[in-house]
Amino acid sequence: MEQYVIKGGTPLVGEVEISGAKNAALAILAAAIMTDETVTIENLPNVRDINVLLDAMEGIGANIERIDTHRVKINGSMIHDLTVAYEYIKKIRASYYLLGALLGKYRRAEVALPGGCDIGSRPIDLHLKGFRALGAKVDIQHGLITASADKLIGSHIYLDKVSVGATINIMMAASMAEGKTIIENAAKEPHVVDVANFLNSMGANIRGAGTDVIRIVGVSRLHRTEYSIIPDQIEAGTFMFAAAATKGDVTVKNVIPKHLEATTAKLLEIGCEVEELDDAVRVVASKPLCHTQVTTLPYPGFPTDMQPQMSAVLAISGGTSTVTESIFENRFKYVDELTRMGAQIKVESNIAIITGVGGYMGARVSAPDLRAGAALVIAGLAADGITTVDDIYYIERGYEEFETKLSELGAQIEKVSSEKELQKFKLKIS
Ligand code: EPZ
Repeated sequence: MEQYVIKGGTPLVGEVEISGAKNAALAILAAAIMTDETVTIENLPNVRDINVLLDAMEGIGANIERIDTHRVKINGSMIHDLTVAYEYIKKIRASYYLLGALLGKYRRAEVALPGGCDIGSRPIDLHLKGFRALGAKVDIQHGLITASADKLIGSHIYLDKVSVGATINIMMAASMAEGKTIIENAAKEPHVVDVANFLNSMGANIRGAGTDVIRIVGVSRLHRTEYSIIPDQIEAGTFMFAAAATKGDVTVKNVIPKHLEATTAKLLEIGCEVEELDDAVRVVASKPLCHTQVTTLPYPGFPTDMQPQMSAVLAISGGTSTVTESIFENRFKYVDELTRMGAQIKVESNIAIITGVGGYMGARVSAPDLRAGAALVIAGLAADGITTVDDIYYIERGYEEFETKLSELGAQIEKVSSEKELQKFKLKIS
């Protein structure tokens, strides 16, 4: 079993290059099969979730050609199977983007119903409501969602809750529906905009992405394109918090600073210096950090995907902070692990009350999910002594070369896969 082993206490210093956005890439890859022509996608992050989705796409007959680690050519003309198996959907929920893509292109799709997930209950009722509004018949039987339509007709859709996944899935199907669709109360996340830009580069007609009303005029066919994915704002934010936790000085490169505003605002509030450059941000933590209040909200609010990393920093900042999770109900599973490292955190309903302590003590901990895993690594980097993080499979779902990028900033971290390697690391750093 692979683990990260970390000797904490070294301030992170230097520059780190951010990869393409995983959550944009997942939707863009699915959307790429909506044309029979070849699509080239660049700045693809080389992370596990992306590779699983590419396998799922190959499984239904799409032609996938990896040009190199970060570039792929996709051709969807040979798709012969409109059923996406449970084998993929259980590994990665976002395979459900193939529902919108296949339904838009072929008027039919069958995708296994995504199972439960570790960050809380994650219904997809709004996705299905959108497909039905476009005229599709949607059935769920034996764990399989079947959506089909003779014709998809544009419609006026109000989303009861702001949902990234539903906005993107409906946007994809509506791109190839007849007539005009309006999505109200749409998600405004940067990756929603990126998917809209990608579809538009294939000939779709989508306006208003990035606002809460998206207007789509359906087209009958989409065409080839070459497209570069936006930088990953969550990976960037994770390095910004790692800089803060270790009292470091890190320039996070290849980012769009506007996408990081909520994270930047919180870092400034707790006493970091943040300098915004054209396509980079520099975080310097030279003073003692202090408490704050934060509530997760849809973009441009503070992202739920940054909540565990922020808590990891607040737990070693002076005073009492509160962190309110308003998107997913089960996103505090890392709290017990941080407690094992010396944190003082009490969770009441969806609020974590964090009393800052002087520092963390290294311990053996397990990553409960992707972002929580990143938070434990941050704690380990700041801790006194050695931390081992188990179940790093989760972290590798969404962070490319995490340990390499951290090592290049001076962190003492290694991925080990045996007790022998672990002991070797300990000997090396002693
Ligand atoms: C996306 O999930 C991201 N995943 C998540 O990132 C992220 O945490 C989340 O958006 C919020 O920003 C991908 O992009 C692949 P939602 P998604 O639909 O689309 C409720 C990470 O760590 N809801 O915006 O599944 C839902 O329960 C991951 O990278 C419904 O009620 O999230 C939640 O409370 C984890 N019905 C809220 O809406 C629906 O049909 C927002 O969920 C859909 C959602």
